[in-house]
Parts: sequence; C-alpha cells; structure tokens
Amino acid sequence: MKRAIIVANWKMHKTQLEAKAFLEEMAKMDLPSTKEVWIAPSYTSISVLEEMRKNLNLSILIGAQNVNEHNLGAFTGEISAAQLSDAGAKFVIIGHSERRHIYLESDAMIEKKIAQALNESMIPLLCVGETEDQRAQGVTKKILSFQIRGALGSFSKEDLQSLVVAYEPVWAIGTGKIATPEIAEEAHQMIKKDLANMFGEEFTETVPVLYGGSVKAESMQNLMKQRNINGVLVGGASLAPDTFQKIINY
Ligand code: 13P
Repeated sequence: MKRAIIVANWKMHKTQLEAKAFLEEMAKMDLPSTKEVWIAPSYTSISVLEEMRKNLNLSILIGAQNVNEHNLGAFTGEISAAQLSDAGAKFVIIGHSERRHIYLESDAMIEKKIAQALNESMIPLLCVGETEDQRAQGVTKKILSFQIRGALGSFSKEDLQSLVVAYEPVWAIGTGKIATPEIAEEAHQMIKKDLANMFGEEFTETVPVLYGGSVKAESMQNLMKQRNINGVLVGGASLAPDTFQKIINY
C-alpha cells in the first residue's frame, strides 16, 4: 500500500504551552492507522512533545526543522544532530526553501546536514523546489536535478534507506497558490526519475515523496490520488489542530 505521511512544519510558531495544547487535541482524535503523522515543532518544544507523546502513547513522530552541518564545535546559536536526537527528534527537515533563500544554505551544506542526520539515525526529510521565475523559464527539471544531485550525490542507496523527499515549489509556499495535482505529480515524477538514475528503480520505489505548499484539507483527495505523491508537508494549515486533523482525515 502507498504510504501517506502527513507532516506539520510549525516553522517559528508556538511556545511550549501552545505545542502541548495542540498535542492534547491530537490525543482526542482517532489517528488513522493507515496514515503516518509527523510534527516538526521549534527546537524548544521537541523534548516536551516527545515526552508527552510517549506518556499518551500517540503514534506520532516528533522531528526538527533544521540541523547544523557539523557534529559539534564553536558554532554559536546552532544545534547538532546529536542534540536533536537526544531531545527526541526522529526526523529532520533539511534544505527547506526558507533555509536556502533566507539563510543562504547551499546544496553542499545540505549534503553535510543529511550526513549528520544519518549519523544519528534520524530520517532526513530533504526539501527541493523551484522558484516562480525558474518555472517560468522552463528550468524546473534542471533545478530539481541540481538540488537532488547536490544533496544526495555522495551517498549510496544503503546510506539513504530512510530518506524522504519533499517537493515544495517556492511559489506555492505560504501564498495560497497550491500546485495542481498534475503539476505536483509531474514534478514528483522528475524527482523519482533522478533518484532512479542515481540509485535504481527498486530503491526509488521505496522513497516517499511529499508535496508541500499551501496544502489545505480540500486539496488532499486529489493530491493523494496521484501515483507519486506519498504525503504532504504542511505549514500554515498545520498550526490549528482542527485544520490539521481535517488534512489527516482527508
Ligand atoms: P504552507 O503550507 O504555509 O504553504 O507552508 C509550506 C511549507 O513550507 C511546509 O514546509
């Protein structure tokens, strides 16, 4: 059966109190066993949510939104993979477009971050996606290829057993302009093709590719009908328990 992974990326939202209140609401719902629910809160809420999740026996994965590319050292304000894993993070979002564009993360840096996540046995959730200009210029395929090869080129398929990729077109993030299911599916096929060229078809079949960018509950049915869409990465609509639950229950 096709995996359905629903990931909340809370970005720089929610205090510990607010994060806990959200999880309390999640505990009241029957989480469908056919869907995987993941939450990436701010660093300060990771251990709090992981502790609470264990106590409530909720099958939700708690993860992080970023990780530093070094394993330790004099990097004021940064956080290491070991520290995230120690706090209870099971996955880490790497190469989100906000990190690439606002904090100028390069593909080389992203590759190192993936290595750090893998060293600590955390699932790397690699984000890729083109800007509006790049799509208009017809270079989407090339951009996705650069990003996939840049981030994953030095790994073997054995290293990347837990890899998850998210296609997040920059023009769809936080804009309300969601990609049509056809546009998303086409991009997911491009990503799968690159992965297949690098690591073979058989391995590629096992790599979930999620869609992210203005996802709402109403868009879920049609997105999830696409063969190569294995879930979603949700920003704004993951902040309130009721809208996030509607997305899970699509
Ligand atoms: P929105 O759902 O708010 O568009 O954000 C998408 C995103 O960036 C998730 O990582």
